[in-house]
Amino acid sequence: MCGIVGYVGERSSIDVLMGGLRRLEYRGYDSAGVAIVDDDGTIETAKRAGKLKVLADEIEAHPLHRGGTGIGHTRWATHGGPTDGNAHPHLGDEGRLALIHNGIIENFAQLKDELLAEGYEFASETDTEVAAVLLGREYRAKGDLREAFRTTVARLDGAFTLLAVHQDAPGLVVGARRNSPLVIGLGEGENFLGSDVAAFVEYTKRAVAIGQDQIVAITADGVDVTDFDGEPVEVEPFDVAWDASAAEKGGWSSFMRKEVSEQPEAVANTLLGRIVDGAVVIPELEDFGDEELRGIRRITVIACGTAAYAGMVAKYAIEQWARVPVEVELSHEFRYREPVLDPETLVVSVSQSGETMDTLMAVKYAREQGARTISICNTQGATIPRESDAVVYTHAGPEVAVASTKAFVAQIAALYLFGLHLARVRGTLSPEKLAAQLAELQAVPDKLQTVLAQGERVGELAHWMADTRSVLFLGRHVGYPIALEGALKLKELAYIHAEGFAAGELKHGPIALIEPGQPVFVVVPSPRGSAALHPKVVSNIQEIRARGARVIAIAEAGDAAVLPYADEVLRIPLAAPLFEPLLAVVPLQLFAMELAQAKGLDVDQPRNLAKSVTVE
Ligand code: F6R
Repeated sequence: MCGIVGYVGERSSIDVLMGGLRRLEYRGYDSAGVAIVDDDGTIETAKRAGKLKVLADEIEAHPLHRGGTGIGHTRWATHGGPTDGNAHPHLGDEGRLALIHNGIIENFAQLKDELLAEGYEFASETDTEVAAVLLGREYRAKGDLREAFRTTVARLDGAFTLLAVHQDAPGLVVGARRNSPLVIGLGEGENFLGSDVAAFVEYTKRAVAIGQDQIVAITADGVDVTDFDGEPVEVEPFDVAWDASAAEKGGWSSFMRKEVSEQPEAVANTLLGRIVDGAVVIPELEDFGDEELRGIRRITVIACGTAAYAGMVAKYAIEQWARVPVEVELSHEFRYREPVLDPETLVVSVSQSGETMDTLMAVKYAREQGARTISICNTQGATIPRESDAVVYTHAGPEVAVASTKAFVAQIAALYLFGLHLARVRGTLSPEKLAAQLAELQAVPDKLQTVLAQGERVGELAHWMADTRSVLFLGRHVGYPIALEGALKLKELAYIHAEGFAAGELKHGPIALIEPGQPVFVVVPSPRGSAALHPKVVSNIQEIRARGARVIAIAEAGDAAVLPYADEVLRIPLAAPLFEPLLAVVPLQLFAMELAQAKGLDVDQPRNLAKSVTVE
């Protein structure tokens, strides 16, 4: 939540900041602002409620000076509504200092009372302004921005990334990080800061992830990182693996449409180089020796939202292949219920952003309790992988649209690779069966392409259903998490009431919702691969059809049993049952996207959401 960018160098910082904010806007988009310091030490700010475009128009109408030092912010409101006044930056030291913030300062009310008692005044309702005023007070006392940061962060509780500039110090941006992300971009005669590398990848691919409880100062010529006590910290630069163009729309009408269409590559790239001579090779897991993997007695997958549904799909596969119990839990529930953990429990977190605060806190908690942790993550340099014992990256490329699509299929692919690796090490799958599963996995990208080719048909269906007020989704076995994901996509993109159910649960309550005309999507298991379940789901279809439901079946090519009962049938190619979810999710993503577009909604930035949920 909230995107942050900072710059010092020869370029016009306003151009760098606005470009960076455009790339970070997916992190929050209810207001935006910038502060620029020119070489003479004049500070100027601009900030506006609304999307970044509103700020861009404002700056075009009233240009700021072209100083080479600046900070910029795109906001997802926590304290105080999305107004011009609550937008960042906030000022301290009587307007000489500007500060931006991502996170929540939990003790801001006490600090505000303290500052009010000293006669300081506030112009907004935000926790951020309290940090700005406090930093200003500390700067007055110390005369040095880095020193002032140290004494300020010592007073703050909660999660924060803070960046500040002061007019006394042109050519300097100082930042601090606790539990919220911050990455340095290393340039030649210029340096950058960003919530993630997208902020500066246009200018440099050399980056450094700032660790927990660290302070960073950038100038044009160098970067200096210390801990909160001022002790120097060694940094480890890494190279960003993707180009700036990967985070551009590239001619597509929306990032979502582009990312849905990139799913074949997202899976192919996640598998690339990891299947060698019929075996799974995951060098990133070298710290987990075979002996340790054989000793695992239980796996807990922790994640939120779509990532948790990827975990639910993988549960079926990992249990079947590696014969180890897998439980999947929402990170925020896991963290606060005192789960039973020990060194034989493996905790696998799944997170596209690698910054989701609920998941981060759950990973830290699991480690404190003695569990070993692996992160499945799509974002290099993110916090969750760094807090885990090992990381298996998904290579879906940058996902910009707020609702997750290509990251989901890449997460399942990575979890499946891990499950098959585990099965080989534990000897629970014969070499023939292992090879057959790997072949199925490698066939997924081409099959995804086939499903995507039906986009037009799904589009027609969605346009025809644009007035629908409620949609239900049913699935069974691995189709159940897909039903949940289909409902989530429809809620967040099209703002339509949607519920996903396990088809077997229908008669235990949800069937009461069926009335004439109620649309129901049903993910139908394969009649070949799931001979026991297929007739049961077909019976469910008959039951809801008899009560007037409009049934849209997602069924395997050639499955004729659904034809008499379904109003629409969307086909997926033949695949082994465990691989069907990777295909069946696509028509549901397309449906939600098309229906949202038919309603004239912004599919990339749905209301009230942010891509990285960096607050609990
Ligand atoms: C839904 C969606 C969210 C995320 C969830 C976890 O489309 O995108 O439900 O899946 O917020 O985010 P990550 O994967 O970044 O931890």
